[in-house]
Amino acid sequence: VKVSVAGSGGNATTNLQYGAMEEEINHCGEGGLYAELIRNRAFQGSSTFPSTVDAWGAVNGAGLLLQNLTNPLSSALPTSLQVQGEGITGMANSGFWGIDVRPQKYTGSFYVLGSYAGNFTASLQSANGEVFASTEVASESRADEWVQHKFTLHPNKKADNTSNHFVLTFDASQTECGALDFNLISLFPPTWNDRPNGMRRDLMQALQELGPKFLRFPGGNNLEGQTIEGRWKWNETIGPLKDRPGRATTWGYEETSGMGLVEYMEWCDDLEMEPILAVWGGFALNGDAVPESEIGFYVQDALDELEFLTGSTDTKFGALRAKYGHPEPWKIRYVEVGNEDNLNGGLDSYKAYRFPAFYNAISEKYPEIQVIASTINMTFPANAGGDYHTYDIPDNFVSNFNKFDNYTREHPILLGEIAVTEFNNAQHGINWTDKHFTLYPFWLGTVAEAVFLLGAERNADLIIGTTYAPFFENLDSYEWSPTMISFNSNPDQTSKSTSWHLYKLFNDHHMTNTLPSTSDSDFGPLYYATGMNNKTNSYIFKAAVYNSTEEIPISLSFEGVGRGAMADLTILTAPNEVAMNGVDGANIVQTQTKKIKAGKQGVFEFKMPSLSVAVLETK
Ligand code: AHR
Repeated sequence: VKVSVAGSGGNATTNLQYGAMEEEINHCGEGGLYAELIRNRAFQGSSTFPSTVDAWGAVNGAGLLLQNLTNPLSSALPTSLQVQGEGITGMANSGFWGIDVRPQKYTGSFYVLGSYAGNFTASLQSANGEVFASTEVASESRADEWVQHKFTLHPNKKADNTSNHFVLTFDASQTECGALDFNLISLFPPTWNDRPNGMRRDLMQALQELGPKFLRFPGGNNLEGQTIEGRWKWNETIGPLKDRPGRATTWGYEETSGMGLVEYMEWCDDLEMEPILAVWGGFALNGDAVPESEIGFYVQDALDELEFLTGSTDTKFGALRAKYGHPEPWKIRYVEVGNEDNLNGGLDSYKAYRFPAFYNAISEKYPEIQVIASTINMTFPANAGGDYHTYDIPDNFVSNFNKFDNYTREHPILLGEIAVTEFNNAQHGINWTDKHFTLYPFWLGTVAEAVFLLGAERNADLIIGTTYAPFFENLDSYEWSPTMISFNSNPDQTSKSTSWHLYKLFNDHHMTNTLPSTSDSDFGPLYYATGMNNKTNSYIFKAAVYNSTEEIPISLSFEGVGRGAMADLTILTAPNEVAMNGVDGANIVQTQTKKIKAGKQGVFEFKMPSLSVAVLETK
């Protein structure tokens, strides 16, 4: 195949081509990115998921009793754990299906109520009682006031596995009536950038290497809530942890909201990602839409959220942000209204009054913000954008290569959730009786995603950016696979999927401009996108070969690049089309990199095998 790339005539891209998406699903935040090690740390519950003692066990026969005291830790955390016994007594937490113990500093705290003059003992122990680290915490506990105690633990060896416990004990004989009340019991390993209440280092490392340019958050279905009242409420995710009530996610478990709006923004700061903030759009998953007469309240709530993030400290919510440690306003350039409002019967009210109400109010107050609708199945008002999601089989990803070629350029499109979820011969579509598709991305699907991404990148003036979804899964408790990154409680086993390798390659060769090209062949089985990076002054060719019977010889030239020019060529392949990267195995993606020289008339000659992805970059 001959491809000749012009030196000009393309379009500027948004510079955001590949990003990340996060909502609380698959214990990707709680028990994942959010580095808290104690599961069910504050016994949070709701009418959907009532409080339990899950993950807690008794030590030395203690009685563990959940209570809603008349003197709770806070109105947000009304339920606490009474621990009763004789002599040394206490409770143990098994973490998010294990606790990783290694020689590093663990930072912990707990609140306690009750008169007690002795010491507490906090420790990390193996399943059979080997103590890796232990510390005595002098009690400052009082009969009538919740008092926070802080401690650190320093194991001097790495545990063989993660079947470990955090154990907290006290001497019940030194209490008034053999019992104390506990709440908000927390333990963090070292976090990314050492942020308190921060993120798990190995997962952030995997993200940093991937290099996402934006973060779409906080959903997804989880933003919407099962009911209007159950929506993701930004103002209940900020401030001291004891003032965050948590909520029922739409994914079958209660979240603590420890990873709240501010933590999302800090995450964007840490990885230099553009925030694409989704605000609640007046619709819940049970099909309830806020009536037009009441939508103003929720629009104002979205404006308040934007003021919290971007307002000066002279504003009510900007001042609140400063109080919570962030005097400098953040910048928000993209706001999405709702999530998948084309589903569950939501489209009519979305088109008729919900989207216009949010769009008008946000555009008026923040004209610089690109407002994005949560669907592309509608007529957009001026300057509004849309969000397109697709979960599908590989063949359909490939046949959608040219989906965006003829779209109007007036309304940009975010590809806010995309993933190949099943093999071609699997039942097509989402089978809700078994919510899992393939456990991990697989190579044929990854190549098909590459073809679709190339179609998007050819249209990178229109496509704001693309993100895989869902992004993370904790394999000990998940609702939806496959995901970009899989993990469990052992950071040594975190797995970067085949699709992670694709997105990283495409991210590493960032195009600031598309460039037109001509060819002697139609697209398929070779698909490609061409462009340049005007910061590094280099020309870029990205390609994928899907289902070819033979290797494809490519003769590639760029206007202005002459004989003898050198290029970096990277080709990704895998042993077979169903090959996957799992937490229990090695990386199966084979990466071949070489330098090649342009021959006569500046033509680069190389071959791509079937089911391969390649990038060539030259100056
Ligand atoms: O990514 C999983 C779910 O898929 C998202 O929550 C939702 O937006 C989509 O239907």
